[in-house]
Amino acid sequence: MQEAPRKVSLTGIKPTGEPHLGNLVGAIRPALELAERYDAMYFIADYHALTTIRDPDLLRHYSRSVAATWIAAGLDTDRVTMYRQSEVPETFELAWALSCVSAKGLMNRAHAYKAARDKNAEAGKADLDSGINMGLYNYPVLMAADILLMDADVVPVGKDQAQHVEYAADIAGSFNHLFGRGYKLKIPELVLPEAQAGKTLPGLDGRKMSKSYANTIPLFVKESQLKKLVRRIATDSTPVEAPKDPDASHAFQIFEQFATEAEAAAVRKRLEAGGMGWGELKDRLFEVLNELLTPLRARYDELMEPDSELDALLAAGAERARARARVVLSNVRTAVGID
Ligand code: TRP
Repeated sequence: MQEAPRKVSLTGIKPTGEPHLGNLVGAIRPALELAERYDAMYFIADYHALTTIRDPDLLRHYSRSVAATWIAAGLDTDRVTMYRQSEVPETFELAWALSCVSAKGLMNRAHAYKAARDKNAEAGKADLDSGINMGLYNYPVLMAADILLMDADVVPVGKDQAQHVEYAADIAGSFNHLFGRGYKLKIPELVLPEAQAGKTLPGLDGRKMSKSYANTIPLFVKESQLKKLVRRIATDSTPVEAPKDPDASHAFQIFEQFATEAEAAAVRKRLEAGGMGWGELKDRLFEVLNELLTPLRARYDELMEPDSELDALLAAGAERARARARVVLSNVRTAVGID
């Protein structure tokens, strides 16, 4: 019997910061696992990042950095289609067509837009739209275009992006209602990574590791810097001899994600018995992280060279993505009467 063709999964990654350990655990690793089950497509959402980034060199840097990180972490560009959103210009044509069938009221209710207005309200601004650009307002339409253009079956995203995927399904529904006699867009399915729920990595201060809390351990800092950062992870003043609760320790929670199961179990026992101090735990954590990250860092540095193979790999991914995109866009154009 022939195997059923695999479903296509698609996720965009907004290049707005230096990749850190939290990204590796919360996004990159689960995405690499998903690529075993789906025909996976991952793209760098650089035009989405333009809604906030105003420094061209920084946008350029982050875009390459995200791609280099994912490849260094094990993404196989032969099996997974990875590309830059901006290298698939069909996206922006579809975005316009979709905006013509999207309710404005839907955009008014989008979380990110509402949050920006709330912030203005709190700041006592008379104009609640102050400082809000059309890119932020149209963000969900562009995201719908990313998804619908690739005829994606499933969209795995974190909870914060769920509304956007629902919007994409909604917008596809509107298009199909109006133009479905000519062509129907595939309604994408939202996939929340349930296994990852509650498995967020704590940062240096114990809150969720996140760029916005400035508590991250970046993936590709120098060894000496990595050591310093690990030393800074918040711990209490329980003395070395005292028994400790590993599950209440941020350092241990991080350790557990990166050590082998056997080593994590052994360290857990020693902490619970007393006699192992936080300093020793952090030394061990540094070693484990450094061992894991050293080869990744080498590959990352290589890819980040200006004339590395990175840009060609992304261009090849974009060509594959465009082959899919052209089919959908051409159907959409015919369906609406533009050919
Ligand atoms: N908005 C997503 C984020 O901020 C990134 C993104 C852009 C995306 N287009 C997408 C995710 C399409 C999934 C599908 O994380």
